[in-house]
Amino acid sequence: MSTTTKRVELKGLTSFHTLNNDHHIPRLGLGVYQVPDGKETEDAVLWALQMGYRHIDTATIYGNEKSVGNGIRKSGIPREEIFVTTKLTEDDQGYDSAIAALNLSLKKMGLDYVDLYLIHSPLRGSGLRKESWKALETLVAQGKAKSIGVSNYGVSHLKELLATNPKIRPVVNQIELHPWLTRPEIISFCESHQIAIEAYSPLCQGLKLQDPRLVKIAKKYSKSPAQVLIRWSLQKGHIVIPKSSKKERIEQNADVFDFEISVEDMDVLDSMNENFICEWDPTTAP
Ligand SMILES: NC(=O)c1ccc[n+]([C@@H]2O[C@H](COP(=O)([O-])OP(=O)(O)OC[C@H]3O[C@@H](n4cnc5c(N)ncnc54)[C@H](OP(=O)(O)O)[C@@H]3O)[C@@H](O)[C@H]2O)c1
Repeated sequence: MSTTTKRVELKGLTSFHTLNNDHHIPRLGLGVYQVPDGKETEDAVLWALQMGYRHIDTATIYGNEKSVGNGIRKSGIPREEIFVTTKLTEDDQGYDSAIAALNLSLKKMGLDYVDLYLIHSPLRGSGLRKESWKALETLVAQGKAKSIGVSNYGVSHLKELLATNPKIRPVVNQIELHPWLTRPEIISFCESHQIAIEAYSPLCQGLKLQDPRLVKIAKKYSKSPAQVLIRWSLQKGHIVIPKSSKKERIEQNADVFDFEISVEDMDVLDSMNENFICEWDPTTAP
């Protein structure tokens, strides 16, 4: 086994990771960034849940929380079987505003609680980051969020938060991750503090699917480049949330549990890092 491959059980869409608060998060989820509110989001969520996905990742800023809630209800699947994440927008950082923001998100989704509430990014500075975290702790106490975490936090932001001796430690850090952006420092810090890594933009937003090294590996396993990227994330031990609004791709992206990337091929993928950012990079923000 490659030193960069984690020993995790990857049985299917119900495979989960146990967070540092003992809650379970499905290792593979559906991301809905840039999926328009309305039928498109509702359908994507519904199809995913019908196919066996049990983890949906949205954010207030995506503007589609209402349709995420509709898709969940339409599925008829009991609420407690689905893991739902949303995120606190920068404009809502601060104690009172963060409390109000999650209450509004819950109202839009028609849900009583989210499984995971994340500070979307560290932007807005130290004072508001710390106040926002206190608000998230209150939301856990109120039962509105089962777990809380951060997104786009660099090591300095994580150190700042942990130095406050928070009542609740973040369960995850959701960051952009794929073979072209491997972020070893952030990962190593998170691992040593039991903060799980959630990989966003795991398909590099489709920008690198033609990379000949990836295409070669995909052909070898008779899988698509997207499937290899998702499997790479899973074998690294990351929680992974690829986005698609197309039914056949949502299905294809979940069909990653019947093959294993070899040590040699993991090493090839690991060697492709070029610090390529396809979304945004607040991890170095002051
Ligand atoms: N915390 C943050 O700051 C942050 C930032 C970005 C993303 N995220 C989260 O991470 C999720 C995923 O990231 P992302 O949306 O940026 O990008 P991504 O998942 O890396 O890539 C999505 C793109 O790949 C295409 N695609 C999906 N499956 C495919 C397949 N099997 N073959 C070929 N192309 C495929 C999609 O097109 P179609 O839809 O047309 O299939 C879309 O253009 C987001 O939806 C969001 O939940 C979080």
